Amino acid sequence: LTASVVLDRAFVVGPVRPRTFGTFVEHLGRSVYTGIYEPDHPAADEDGLRTDVLDLVRELGTTTVRYPGGNFVSGYRWEDGVGPVEQRPARLDLAWHSTDPNTFGVDEFMAWAAKAGVEPMMAINLGTRGVQEAIDLLEYCNVPGGSYHADLRRSNGSADPYRIKMWCLGNEMDGPWQIGHKTAEEYGRVAAEAARAMRMIDPDLELVACGSSNSRMPTFGEWEATVLQETYEHVDLISAHAYYYEDDGDLSSFLASATDMDYFVDSVAATADYVRAARKQSKRIHISFDEWNVWYQGRAESRPPSGDDWPVAPVLLEDKYNVADAVVVGNLLISLLRHTDRVHAASLAQLVNVIAPIMTEPGGRAWRQTTFHPFALTARHAKGEVLRPAVSAPRVETTRFGDVPAVDLVATRDEETGEAALFVVNRSVSEPIDLSVDVRSLGSERVLEATTLSNPDHTWQADADDATSVLPRTNESATLSDGALSVELPPVSWSMVRLS
Ligand code: AHR
Repeated sequence: LTASVVLDRAFVVGPVRPRTFGTFVEHLGRSVYTGIYEPDHPAADEDGLRTDVLDLVRELGTTTVRYPGGNFVSGYRWEDGVGPVEQRPARLDLAWHSTDPNTFGVDEFMAWAAKAGVEPMMAINLGTRGVQEAIDLLEYCNVPGGSYHADLRRSNGSADPYRIKMWCLGNEMDGPWQIGHKTAEEYGRVAAEAARAMRMIDPDLELVACGSSNSRMPTFGEWEATVLQETYEHVDLISAHAYYYEDDGDLSSFLASATDMDYFVDSVAATADYVRAARKQSKRIHISFDEWNVWYQGRAESRPPSGDDWPVAPVLLEDKYNVADAVVVGNLLISLLRHTDRVHAASLAQLVNVIAPIMTEPGGRAWRQTTFHPFALTARHAKGEVLRPAVSAPRVETTRFGDVPAVDLVATRDEETGEAALFVVNRSVSEPIDLSVDVRSLGSERVLEATTLSNPDHTWQADADDATSVLPRTNESATLSDGALSVELPPVSWSMVRLS
């Protein structure tokens, strides 16, 4: 099979946004405890933070980290997690049927974020709590001193305010599983009032209202319209969440998952623009795709404990990812990048152990899943501006999405260095594709790097003993002459080609 693409430096969608490469740490399973934080681990630093994990987090290239949830945040009392550790209460976490010892809280997270070199994205509890607790937490985090909560932070050891900019106004409030679940009207009202009060402390915050938990929610569309009717003037972004998995062996539909992400983003953008018109507003609301990934929700390890069993840091949602999962993750990043005009922030959910690119053994090793690689390479090499390609490709038939192009790609170009990068997937389950790309307008003269993630067995998974067998490998087929790039894409593969 063959496919052809034309790239033109004039077809700019918008800038590559560093915040597209965000991730997420929730108090869930072993994400925090024995994930990023394990005081007894041989690699732990003076704050109990695992330095082996910090190294991998930096290598992953994540830019923002959302915290502390997720479903967890809708029952969270942030005050439990600050002050002398020995005085902090252990609490039931109803969302994940676990016990949180609260030995890790806001101050520990901010110390970790500084060491990881990431921007924090803080979520407030609008499930069991409301406006008052939100402004208390904001005061604790962002006010220099001279008031109760600001001075509390200072006495807990952080003299300087954290000045956190990005705040999520609750989590998945459209979901009946959410503690304190609300109708769109109820949620819109409390989100608007929380936002208004928070801006009285700090007008420059960037606030994210809750959108839909997935595009198949019965309230999808109506939820966004109603919430934005209530909150339009007070917020900057609306969230989107989506998880994909191979259902019942339907690999073709799974590989086309980005079709749903495209639909999701386009629909939310259109809904936000409808409210903009109806409310005679000039500003635009953008999208924070702050939970996205592959997640096999039906698997046993995804199910929380029950009854009187309320463990601390149980094994939960520890999905092991294969090659096809990594190709889908790479394709979802392609979708986020091509929507850089509307998606202004995104978070792969999550970062460590829980549906994560980075895994740890308690007391032992930290290692990279297959999904680590497309994320790290895209985060490192997508620079400058996103270009919209013109693609002509064979079609693949799928049960879920109808027929879709077998090749999906996006390109970026850095005006300063003149370097370009293509990120491309072959979604055919069986056929290699010869791709030719007209890059004359880019002025590129040589292939700097061509790398492909694939495996004859697309179900191959990494583990702690062998996390390297499926590292992306140099794609020797890539050539560039007279403005024509040609590269062979194996079936079920993700590739990156860099040009200068
Ligand atoms: O990321 C795992 C969970 O998925 C989050 O807690 C929740 O927000 C979503 O349903």
